[in-house]
Order: sequence, then C-alpha cells, then structure tokens
Amino acid sequence: MDIDLKAIYNEFAETYDKNRGLFDMTQVFDSFYGLLHIKKGRLLDMGCGAGEPFPRFFIDRGWTVTGVDFSEQMLELAARYVPEMKTVFADMREVAFEPERFEAITATYSLFHIPRDDQTLLFNRFYRWLCPEGMTLFTYATREYTGSDEFDGYKEFMGHELYYSHKTPDELRTDLQTIGFIVESWDYRDIGGEIFLWVTVRKPAGG
Ligand SMILES: C[S@@+](CC[C@H](N)C(=O)[O-])C[C@H]1O[C@@H](n2cnc3c(N)ncnc32)[C@H](O)[C@@H]1O
Repeated sequence: MDIDLKAIYNEFAETYDKNRGLFDMTQVFDSFYGLLHIKKGRLLDMGCGAGEPFPRFFIDRGWTVTGVDFSEQMLELAARYVPEMKTVFADMREVAFEPERFEAITATYSLFHIPRDDQTLLFNRFYRWLCPEGMTLFTYATREYTGSDEFDGYKEFMGHELYYSHKTPDELRTDLQTIGFIVESWDYRDIGGEIFLWVTVRKPAGG
C-alpha cells in the first residue's frame, strides 16, 4: 500500500502543481486560527505535500513550520513554494519528536491514507508532541466520502486506486477523548465537491 501511494503522489505532483490554489480554504484557516489559544509558535504539518496551503499560511504569520512527507516530488514543490519550511522526508508513522515540541499540528487530506489503528497511534503521539493548550487540526474520511460507516480499502481518485481508512465518527471521538484531547470543532465541509470531516482538538492546560 505504502509504495503504491508514494509512487502515485510522486506522479500527482505535477497535476497538483497545476491545480494550486483552486479551492478556497479561507473558512478552514479562519476557523482553526480563531480557535488557537497560542497564536504563534511551532507547527508540525503531517503529509505536508507542496507546503500549501497550511504551512504557507502559518509561516506568513511568523510561525516556524516543519513538514513531513514521503513523496520526494511533493517535497520538491514544497522547497520551491515554501522554502522557509523545514522538511522531513519520511513516512509520518516513523518520525519522532520530543514531548511538547509543537504549539500546533495539522494533517490535512493525509491521515485518511493511514490504516485506522495507526491513526490512533499517531493521535497519541500528537498529544505527546503538543504543548499544553496546543491544537491539532486534521481531515477525516467518513461515510460522506467512502460510502461506508467504517472503511479500509481502495477508492478511485484522479484515475488511481488510492488506499483510505477510517473508523466511525463515534469511534474516532472516543479515541480522541480517551487520549485526553478536548474536541473543539467537528465540521463536515464540502470543499471542491468532496465532503470530509474536519476536526480540531486541544490538549488541555494541565495535560
Ligand atoms: C492529498 S495530499 C495533501 C497535501 C497537503 N496536506 C494539502 O492539504 O494539500 C496527501 C499528502 O500526504 C502524503 N502522505 C500520504 N501518506 C503518507 C505517509 N504515510 N507518510 C508521509 N506522507 C504521506 C502524500 O505524499 C501527499 O503529499
């Protein structure tokens, strides 16, 4: 699964480049930025792709950004468009950071490519890597996208069969709360005709 997905994203990079800025993400930015308790610091972006739109948005507001991605071609675009971003070429499941290293973590349109049990492992790591009051925003696939309450398989995207995985929204919420996160927002958004669940969670002050 990984090798194919990585090869496909390497191939997508050119198309991705042509479609840059096609969708208006203003609402997503404003909503997340408005919820942040800490307005400036260090952001980790998992599956950063070409560094847009999130890393660029945060860098323009004075944040230090680290992006992780396993596609060389996407990272080449990132080096061109967001040279200020520090990049880590790796599978996001294999990176490690010290505790409380980031004020915010984002994973937009990327986590749904990770098997659902690994997603839970990642949420645990996000919690550890976040400072108290730090926030995470991620995109989650649901029935609205895959057609099933829970899913683990392949779905066509731009002429390729891509791997997607998700639990039910209830299971997701339970996972996040069990880890210790406070759910701050839970929005189904239709962006470019694709409906995903956008979730913001916060690590509590004493967490
Ligand atoms: C749909 S793109 C999203 C890019 C960007 N986050 C955005 O919002 O436009 C998904 C990105 O996740 C990366 N990705 C998928 N699975 C990954 C993994 N296991 N480790 C690291 N990167 C991964 C892909 O290479 C690709 O760049």
